Amino acid sequence: MRFPAEPFKIKVVESIKTTTQEEREKLLKEVGNNIFDIPSEKIFIDLLTDSGTSAMSDRQWAALMVGDEAYAGSRSFYKFEQTVKKLTNFGHVIPTHQGRVAENLLSSIIVKEGMVVPNNSHFDTTRANIEYHQGLALDLVIDEAYQPEVDHPFKGNMDIRKLERVINKYGKDRIPVCFLTITNNSGGGQPVSMQNIKDVKKVLSKYNIPLFFDACRFAENCYFIKTREKGYENKWILEIANEMFSYADGCTMSAKKDGLVNIGGFLALNDEGLAQKITNLLILIEGFPTYGGLAGRDLEAIAVGLEEVLDENYLQFRTSQVQYLAEMLDKENISIIKPAGGHAVYIDAQKFFPHIPNYQFPGQALVVELYKRYGIRSVEIGSLMFGKTDEKTGEEIHPKLELVRLAIPRRVYTSMHMNYIAEAFAELHKDRDKIKGMRITYEAPVLRHFTARLEEIN
Ligand code: F0G
Repeated sequence: MRFPAEPFKIKVVESIKTTTQEEREKLLKEVGNNIFDIPSEKIFIDLLTDSGTSAMSDRQWAALMVGDEAYAGSRSFYKFEQTVKKLTNFGHVIPTHQGRVAENLLSSIIVKEGMVVPNNSHFDTTRANIEYHQGLALDLVIDEAYQPEVDHPFKGNMDIRKLERVINKYGKDRIPVCFLTITNNSGGGQPVSMQNIKDVKKVLSKYNIPLFFDACRFAENCYFIKTREKGYENKWILEIANEMFSYADGCTMSAKKDGLVNIGGFLALNDEGLAQKITNLLILIEGFPTYGGLAGRDLEAIAVGLEEVLDENYLQFRTSQVQYLAEMLDKENISIIKPAGGHAVYIDAQKFFPHIPNYQFPGQALVVELYKRYGIRSVEIGSLMFGKTDEKTGEEIHPKLELVRLAIPRRVYTSMHMNYIAEAFAELHKDRDKIKGMRITYEAPVLRHFTARLEEIN
């Protein structure tokens, strides 16, 4: 295991306040063990998300100062547009204030009742936008994605046979678009291979179905292609990105991830008629097409971020920092999804707490304990987030895996912080028999994990 040294120097620091365990226990009681309600000031290491939490570079901060805040025709927009075009070669670039708005705009125009949208795995917001328009969102990722212990270089790949079956079952006219999420966040931050992208495109071309990328973490995906797929080892990341986007008809993007900024997103596509309709809706709900819900300075920062993210030194560090944490946890016999994802390590909470059944939320018990003892915030992706009661049978439905995600913000924490996290896990693992399951005392009818209240079962 190599100790990943940060390929940057620290110019500005933000201090982290420390809290005592007593204080954290009191806070947890006040918020009913819901980690979303803990003020960020009371957190030592925040691994809730890698979205919008990146540290901007000196070049990005400098770029903010030259933002052109004109309502129409902003210079910053043209710079942003040019950068996105250089990366994707798509003809139309539509700025949005974050990724889900891009998804909303696209779904509003193309998804109608009874339509079907395949994806390797939909992220919550893509799924929600499709379902909101009465469409059916299908996950067609390869089976290996559901086997945490199975090591596969491209666990985000779509299963081509599943895709063909879906097209045969529903018919091409009911499939307005097919997505590939790169990397596949809901499946553990796993990449999609270039070969798989080509294979998916080949099938879709037969039926004239457009392919869109959910491209939030495209650069991390490119780096995995470079290091894991034959024939790409000597290519620049930009070349790989260009090839990848050449197989797609468009993309939705949350720049809060690989745009290395705190807010922003876009939709880019080739279909002029569709772009026109989306732009008309954009003006109604986001803003004029040369700012789309963002300030000119935000567009400047994204333009710089999209270039910086292609730097191989950065990507090498980024992926090895996540890998480094994963390897330390693995050494302590803590079960994780293998291999490590591009932006996060996913812990198998059911294996961590074999004595806590899924209906007593082993993932949330781990999230709570990590915060209580060590001030680390993580997020449960298991029965609390996805479990529900079947309306017809009254039976509890549980997801396939009880996971806890440790998402690593970009350029924010050092490898020493990774050591701290690994040590915390090692200590907690030794003490795990003492930890108890939880029960819900309050839940909202939808997206319950954001506001649920829970208590420990004694
Ligand atoms: N698609 C994927 C794959 C995502 O991971 C996210 C956000 C979005 C779309 C939506 O983008 O937040 O800018 O509207 N993921 C964050 C996360 C929230 O924590 O994984 P957004």
